[in-house]
Amino acid sequence: MSTCDAHDALSDTFFKARKAELEGRLKPARFSHALGVMHAAQELARTYGVDERMARLAGLLHDWDKNYDDEGIRQRAEELGLVVNPYVFQDMPRLLHGPTAAAALAREFPSLPREVVQAIDRHTAGAPNMTDLDMIVYVADALEPGRDYPGIQALRELVGRVPLEELFLKTFQHVLLNLVERCKNIHPQTLEVWNFYVDRARERVSATKCKKEGKA
Ligand SMILES: [Fe+2]
Ligand SMILES: [Fe+2]
Repeated sequence: MSTCDAHDALSDTFFKARKAELEGRLKPARFSHALGVMHAAQELARTYGVDERMARLAGLLHDWDKNYDDEGIRQRAEELGLVVNPYVFQDMPRLLHGPTAAAALAREFPSLPREVVQAIDRHTAGAPNMTDLDMIVYVADALEPGRDYPGIQALRELVGRVPLEELFLKTFQHVLLNLVERCKNIHPQTLEVWNFYVDRARERVSATKCKKEGKA
């Protein structure tokens, strides 16, 4: 991809055109959620030193495919040639809306930066080794101003006070506990993501401890 192409996809013109298109694709409440995520992602990007234009674009477009029903999203995944987890395909097809949106947008707009495409792809299930942009979109999706659930205020108060990865882990933990409490199915990849970030958090704690004790 040339720099010029990427610049086009990060321009105000591209942003406004996709925003207008998105309004036609989503129900009003979902469109206003997308705008909330867009604002939250941009603010998080400013706080954590990430490219704000990429964050606002990924935030805006993350639910591009949210309006498909179960069968519609399965067909969409097949038509895009996605290789997906068979359990998710059968029992939790709506969670495919991240990967299908990413693949469809990348196909329709080849100049979209791959970082933006990846953040859209990963916003539903998370992934090990996420980039800062991936984590920002995930967190913005959970904390945008239109969301209201027990514990959200405590998470919002962490913004800017803890490193981004810690904010992501706390948010991921909250989402996971909430799903368990409500007896909901869990995406098969969740355990892998959870273990990856818990291990990293533990490693950080022992590195800090060693440093304090002068062992580093
Ligand atoms: Fe979503
Ligand atoms: Fe969302």
